[in-house]
Amino acid sequence: MKIIEAKTYEDMSRKAANIISAQVIMKPNCVLGLATGGTPVGIYKQLIDWYRKGDIDFSEVTTINLDEYRGLPRESIQSYWTFMHEHFFDHVNIRPENINLPDGTNQDAQEECARYDRLIMEKGGIDLQLLGIGVDGHIGFNEPGAAFELGTHCVNLTESTIEANARFFDTVKEVPRQAYTMGIKTIMQAHKVLMVVNGRSKAAIIKEAFFVQ
Ligand code: F6R
Repeated sequence: MKIIEAKTYEDMSRKAANIISAQVIMKPNCVLGLATGGTPVGIYKQLIDWYRKGDIDFSEVTTINLDEYRGLPRESIQSYWTFMHEHFFDHVNIRPENINLPDGTNQDAQEECARYDRLIMEKGGIDLQLLGIGVDGHIGFNEPGAAFELGTHCVNLTESTIEANARFFDTVKEVPRQAYTMGIKTIMQAHKVLMVVNGRSKAAIIKEAFFVQ
């Protein structure tokens, strides 16, 4: 594990975008695992900027997102599908058929999660997985202590995650109570993992997760 410190949010975003960009340059048809949330927005902005300048090409890239709310249609403004299109996909030359997120409208959780794990396998695995982390330590929708050996699965959101995600909805009541998420096993099978973290609110969990024996 390598820890790279950054001076500011912009510096962190640029450094992380550099790592992603290097991955795409080294392997133009790579598979990028992507995340939503506030933290990666600056990275996506930077990548869009470099794309516009002609420095990076996403035409052969496949993306596989970490998670999606269960029950929300793609078109919903709070779906991770919409988030990813607004913040990234709509601004670069990723082919629509190469974009993958769990289908929140598939009510058959077992079928949807198995489809997603199969898809990752068929694509040859994830070359670089981008991750954020919640203040309580959740990764994707895996809460601390989630079984390590789980692939993609359906989770019940905890109160803390529901509250944290309420900022994206009009009221806390509208936050879906379940989500499909890659499991820790799926994430750890990625060839490389890039976790980005910023802000004081994350300091305690980072200390606990990475620095306390
Ligand atoms: C995003 C995801 C979440 C976020 C986490 C941190 O796809 O699965 O685990 O990474 O909630 O979110 P922010 O970056 O908003 O603090």
